[in-house]
Amino acid sequence: MAYNLLKGKKGIIFGALNHMSIAWKVAERAHEEGAEFVLTNTPVALRFGELDELAEATGSPIIPADATSEKDLEELMKKTMEHFGGKIDFVLHAIGMSMNVRKGRVYNDLDYNYLMKTLDISAVSFHKVLQTAFRLDAINEWGSVVALSYVAAQRTLYRYNDMADAKALLESIARSFGYIYGRERKVRVNTISQSPTLTTAGSAVKGIDGLMDFTERMSPLGNATAEECADYCMTIFSDLTKKVTMQNLFHDGGFSSMGMSFRAMKMYNKSLEIDEKS
Ligand SMILES: NC(=O)c1ccc[n+]([C@@H]2O[C@H](COP(=O)([O-])OP(=O)(O)OC[C@H]3O[C@@H](n4cnc5c(N)ncnc54)[C@H](O)[C@@H]3O)[C@@H](O)[C@H]2O)c1
Repeated sequence: MAYNLLKGKKGIIFGALNHMSIAWKVAERAHEEGAEFVLTNTPVALRFGELDELAEATGSPIIPADATSEKDLEELMKKTMEHFGGKIDFVLHAIGMSMNVRKGRVYNDLDYNYLMKTLDISAVSFHKVLQTAFRLDAINEWGSVVALSYVAAQRTLYRYNDMADAKALLESIARSFGYIYGRERKVRVNTISQSPTLTTAGSAVKGIDGLMDFTERMSPLGNATAEECADYCMTIFSDLTKKVTMQNLFHDGGFSSMGMSFRAMKMYNKSLEIDEKS
C-alpha cells in the first residue's frame, strides 16, 4: 500500500543490481511513495545487471559511478542536482563486496589488498558519499541518508569474514558523520541492520541457507525480507522520522536481542539426539 510518504522528494539510490537486490525493492517502493530518484551502480554492474529495466519502470535516469571514486561521486552528485534543478532529500547506500569472501580466504588468512578493497567498497565509500554531498551541499535540510548494515558488526558470525569489520566501520561512520551533518545542515544519517536476505551479495556468504534457517528460528517475528526492508527505508526517508539520526536500526524480526528461542532449541536438541544415536 502506498501512503505518498515521499511525495516531492528526490534522491539517489546506490546498489540495485538485479530483482533480488535490496536497493531494487527500495527503488520500487520509493517510486510508489511518490519519490523521484537517480539510480547508480558501477559501469561493470550496469553491463551485467538489469538496471535498465528498473530505470524504465520508475522513470529514473541512470548515472554510473564507482562509489570508491571521489571523482565519480562528484560527477554523480552534480549531474543529479542538474537533473532535478536543485538539491536532493535522500540517499540509499546499499553497497558491499569482499574479495576475501569471494576467493575463499578465511579470516585468519586474509589477503590484505583484498581487505583494503573490502573496507573501501563496503564502508569508506559511505564516508566518500557523505563528504561529497556535504562539500557540494547536495542534500536539503531534514534530508535522510541510509546505509545497509548487518549484525556481524556487533556479533561474530561464522564465515562473515572481513565484511564484519567493514560493517563495524560503516556504522561508526554513520555516527561520526551524522553528528556533523546534523549539527551543520540538519541532515540525518543512519544504518539499517537487515536480516540475512537472499541476494547476489548475500549468496556470496557460504552456508547462507543454514544461516537464514537459524535466524528465522531465532527471530520471534521471523527474518525480515528485502521488501520489508524497503518499507522500513520509506519511513526513515520520510518526514515522520526527522529526529532519528546516528542510529544503527535493527530490522531483523528481533534476532539481535535473542539468545536462544524455543524453535532453535528444538532443532538443536533434535540434532543432539541424532548425534547420540550415531
Ligand atoms: N543480503 C543480505 O543478507 C544482507 C544483510 C544485511 C545487509 N546487507 C547489505 O545490503 C547492501 C546491499 O546488498 P544486497 O544484499 O542487496 O546485494 P546486491 O549484490 O544486490 O547489492 C550489492 C551492490 O553493491 C554494488 N557495488 C559493489 N561494488 C561497488 C562499487 N565500488 N561502487 C558502487 N556499487 C558497488 C554492486 O554492484 C551491487 O549492486 C550491502 O551493503 C549488504 O552488505 C545485505
